[in-house]
Amino acid sequence: MTTHCINVFKGLRYTNSGEVAFCCKSELWLDDKDGNQCKIYTHDFNEALNGKLATEIRNDLENGIKHANCKKCWDEEAAGLPSKRILDNDRAVEYWGQAYLDDKTVEPAIVELNLGTLCNLKCRICGPWSSSRWVEEHFAITQRNNPNPNAKKDYMIQVKDWQGNYEDDSPAWDHIEKSLPHLKQIDIYGGEPFLVEKQWEILKRSIELGYSKNQILHFNTNATQFNPSHIEILKHFKKVLISLSIDGIGKRFEYQRHPAKWDLVENNIRKFLSLQDDNINVVACVTVNTLNVYYLEETLTHFRQIGLGYYINILHGPPHYNIKNISKDIKRDITKYYTPILARITDPYMRERIQHVLDFMNTNESDGRSWNEFFVNTKLKDSYRKENFKETFPEFCKLIDGCSHEFP
Ligand SMILES: C[S@@+](CC[C@H](N)C(=O)[O-])C[C@H]1O[C@@H](n2cnc3c(N)ncnc32)[C@H](O)[C@@H]1O
Ligand code: SF4
Ligand code: SF4
Repeated sequence: MTTHCINVFKGLRYTNSGEVAFCCKSELWLDDKDGNQCKIYTHDFNEALNGKLATEIRNDLENGIKHANCKKCWDEEAAGLPSKRILDNDRAVEYWGQAYLDDKTVEPAIVELNLGTLCNLKCRICGPWSSSRWVEEHFAITQRNNPNPNAKKDYMIQVKDWQGNYEDDSPAWDHIEKSLPHLKQIDIYGGEPFLVEKQWEILKRSIELGYSKNQILHFNTNATQFNPSHIEILKHFKKVLISLSIDGIGKRFEYQRHPAKWDLVENNIRKFLSLQDDNINVVACVTVNTLNVYYLEETLTHFRQIGLGYYINILHGPPHYNIKNISKDIKRDITKYYTPILARITDPYMRERIQHVLDFMNTNESDGRSWNEFFVNTKLKDSYRKENFKETFPEFCKLIDGCSHEFP
């Protein structure tokens, strides 16, 4: 079955504001049996997995029909990339065997929790829907010409919704705790997950109840936090995957992940790497977007030199950071730039990753509006943050200039 996906039987992904989908690449929010939208505060995990839409998507995929909910996976597969569906199916076989992938029992076992937007960074590719640090700047940039005197008030209502409801007495925590016996894999994102104190209580509860030794945890962290007491908790789990979100190195890292400091993160990378053993696995997650695609080899070579494994996360939105929307002539020159590089790279894993990224970039016609927005948006953020794209990415800017798209 070419459209079978473990996530439509076992997966749930809760957003910061409490909506739920099958996974992070899904297009649609799940509802209950009566068609009411499920939220982590109002519905337990089983209600979402057995709702109207979940049943429809599951049936379609099992019948080989590519449901629109899963468009990102179909797009990535069309570009020859290993989609989330393929990666998650493979991972299920690796952890629990082929029988588990083939098992058609519907149960919430692989759950992604986004525990609110508390975060200490405002990465360029992110926004206030994921990071509290972004709230002020996003308002200043997007509402700068809004004459509505209530604009700030309306915005803060939206911010509150993005931040979700993860106060210590929120029913969300009860729903999570109630599901502990079923959970085989918990992916914890944010905001910055290592800053959310309440989650450590839930994880300690799982240890007390004896579930942790059969559970796999996966964190995406911005690598600015390293707390030895958290590491002690993690040692009780069957397996822990820690993905360090690093999209560039040195000054290019700092530009993309303001106000993180590369020295501190480099030091933390060393500490995380020293934890690697049978139970803890540490890799880098590189989100490829318009800012960093030209510097992918630089970044991956650095990881290779320091012994840090990595995987590629392709950015789909916002459209002005999607590499598909880079102007056609610039895509051609990026591809040309990489041709001799690909020929001399001896590491097949790296070569394949870069080739996949280029294939993805070159699949579609660029959308001119998004390319223009990349310039406008970058300039606005540069001016707000007192940063400079041209100085930080001079080689890429030269290539852009060479195609008569002078960066303002
Ligand atoms: C939203 S973050 C939350 C976890 C943590 N704060 C971190 O940065 O790793 C989860 C992952 O999404 C990535 N990310 C951020 N903005 C993105 C976007 N627009 N598209 C795709 N991935 C994005 C981050 O780099 C990170 O690897
Ligand atoms: S096919 Fe892709 S988008 Fe759909 S549920 Fe599976 S992993 Fe998610
Ligand atoms: S660290 Fe994660 S949540 Fe925070 S701004 Fe960056 S990508 Fe967003």
